[in-house]
Amino acid sequence: MKIFLDSANPGEVRTLVAQYAIDGITMNPGLLAREKVRLETVLATLCELSPGPVSVPVRAVEADAIVAEGRALAAHSDRITIKIPIHAAGLRAIAKLHSEGIRTHATVCCSANQGLLAARAGADYVSPLVGRLDETGVSGMDLVAQLIEIYDQYDYDTQIMVASLRTTTHVQEAALLGVDAVTLPRRLLEELAQHPLSDRVHEEFLAAWKRL
Ligand code: E4P
Repeated sequence: MKIFLDSANPGEVRTLVAQYAIDGITMNPGLLAREKVRLETVLATLCELSPGPVSVPVRAVEADAIVAEGRALAAHSDRITIKIPIHAAGLRAIAKLHSEGIRTHATVCCSANQGLLAARAGADYVSPLVGRLDETGVSGMDLVAQLIEIYDQYDYDTQIMVASLRTTTHVQEAALLGVDAVTLPRRLLEELAQHPLSDRVHEEFLAAWKRL
């Protein structure tokens, strides 16, 4: 399972790429706004720091404008994947960019039907929003399982990159279901390597070294 870092902060990306085996980077407009950075100012640095794909969101909402923005973004680096929300115009733009050989990442996927349409449009990745769905009382992980079944059934190439994960249990469940990738914020990435019992036993062993 590939692990992407969900971040638009170059400092954070630099540190975590050095620390963990990260496969690529994703970001969204909320993260850019939180960092108070303009995409144009961090894009080159993030592409340089990332060991793999960099998934970059579009601002446009009309299909032609999304395609134009996607082409311009993709021209910056062959690492860039164009992140496009699933809606009617977004799906048309995904199909057009796909026909031009530009990689796309269909985001804000909240239903199996949306995921089906994203795959039919030729999206390279689709991101079901697990945490956001859970918060509405719908199981996000059920959606992930449905997408796996549908993509297997029709042999679609679209990779499932599970997003909006809130807990380490979510990550474990995604791995057990066999998803292609997850994208994680820093907090969750760091939590994956930790367990209170591991810490206690490690302390015990360190004390034993001192007694030798
Ligand atoms: C998905 O495309 C986003 O980058 C992100 O995973 C959304 O997560 P959130 O629910 O924490 O905003």
